[in-house]
Amino acid sequence: MTPRDTVPPVQIVIFGGSGDLARRKLVPALARLASAGRPGRALQVVGVGRRAMDDDAFRADLRASMPAGLAPAFDALVPRIHYRGADVESIASLEALRRELDALAGERPVGRLCYLALRPGLFGAAVALLRASGIVHRHDHEGAAFRRVVIEKPFGHDLASARSLNDAVHQVLDEHQVFRIDHYLGKETVQNLLGLRFHNAIFEPVWNRHHVELVQVTVAETIGVERGRAGYYDGTGALRDVVQNHVLQILALVALEPPVAIDADALRNQKVEVLRALRPPDPDEVARHSVRARYGAGVVDGARVRGYADEDGVPDGSSTETYVAVRAEIDNWRWQGVPFLLRHGKRMARRVTEVKVQFRMPPVQLFNRPEGMSDAELQRQLRGGTLCLVRPNVLTIGIQPDEGIELSFGVKRPGPEMVMAPASLGFDYREHFGVAPADAYERLLQDAIAGDASLFLRADEIEASWRYCDAILAAWREPGRVPLSDYPAGSWGPAGADALFYGCEGGWANRA
Ligand code: BG6
Repeated sequence: MTPRDTVPPVQIVIFGGSGDLARRKLVPALARLASAGRPGRALQVVGVGRRAMDDDAFRADLRASMPAGLAPAFDALVPRIHYRGADVESIASLEALRRELDALAGERPVGRLCYLALRPGLFGAAVALLRASGIVHRHDHEGAAFRRVVIEKPFGHDLASARSLNDAVHQVLDEHQVFRIDHYLGKETVQNLLGLRFHNAIFEPVWNRHHVELVQVTVAETIGVERGRAGYYDGTGALRDVVQNHVLQILALVALEPPVAIDADALRNQKVEVLRALRPPDPDEVARHSVRARYGAGVVDGARVRGYADEDGVPDGSSTETYVAVRAEIDNWRWQGVPFLLRHGKRMARRVTEVKVQFRMPPVQLFNRPEGMSDAELQRQLRGGTLCLVRPNVLTIGIQPDEGIELSFGVKRPGPEMVMAPASLGFDYREHFGVAPADAYERLLQDAIAGDASLFLRADEIEASWRYCDAILAAWREPGRVPLSDYPAGSWGPAGADALFYGCEGGWANRA
């Protein structure tokens, strides 16, 4: 018996255990955690699905999709991986499952984490039946035999449905038992937004409307709607799928006030304040300050791809957006008047998730066009980037795939004339630390097992995000208010979006 076997294991019960998320993300993350000796207690993993299958078939299924480098960690976990068939909509089936889970746990009280990787429509009913069957119960979460539930996104479809899901959950569980996932918060570079802002004193004095001209948050993907996902995606769209959660979470971390501590309450109190201060735009503002579009056929990474309307499973007459750009405003003292330009699209030219904080221009332009330089030469040098008249400083925080930070500024070019050229200071995560950032799910599962909800969404945060998105969705529903435009796959989105981004250093084009 190893020392770790002397403490009771933690039981991770994955509902939707035979699904894609479990196979691609959850089990690999658990294998990595277990092989690293985290969380300090052995793991017992139980996949639950409707399909009848025995442990061996489940293990073989998982092994087939395990990345090669992870095989030893997975094999070490295999004896602790189980499968049980059950129907989350049937109380009798869940009662039988509870008896089986108790039997697997043995005599000792085990902590139990139920992960709902289910169809979103099932979340509310599933939580109620988990409680009714005794698989979870309300309890003191400090105890070894904790009961927690992780709920995947999307949490609701709009404010009303998110509220009623929160109500359903709170009827049977305490808030501290509920872990609503936004996997972006598990990304190292997203967490580093807090580190950068609050471990370094130089940023705070300039991190406000007096010094910041505008902030851009971009989540651009090259993938389209993946196989089998059109059914979900077409009823969801880019605003609900990525902006309501990932983009607004990044915005909250960029804009929040310093928390008194990095713990779940302090951090989420500050995030919810930002989200509440996001001004829900009225329909005229939505028309002026938002763009929605969907991709047509085009070329991505050298391959011809079809347009959204021709993807398998997209219904005829669909008007779902795959691109959204919004000029958002935060009504509080720190950010009043500073536009937050939010943008997300599928089938874009390049995969990039980043934040750009653009600072105000110097009040006086001391360094000007070099004396005697012809217009043609001036234009040539400006285009070539060897000369800049005056440019704002921009702090670029690369979330993925180029994880790093870059601060741009101007420096004097060598020579007898006072000519400024662009330069930058950079930090590259992989180069600096010699490793790639860890997978988001690994961190989030570890935290959920430990009962730390700092990187999970609280009920009020989700509702505040929906309140903002609902205002946009309502205006979009008005016929003709914000027409759906098109962009070719492999581009940077519709031309109409450029106007929204006036004032951005380099504009959208600098990404091509
Ligand atoms: C998911 C969305 O939440 O995030 C997907 O449903 C999107 O549509 C994905 O592709 C992006 O995640 P990542 O980690 O690949 O940026």
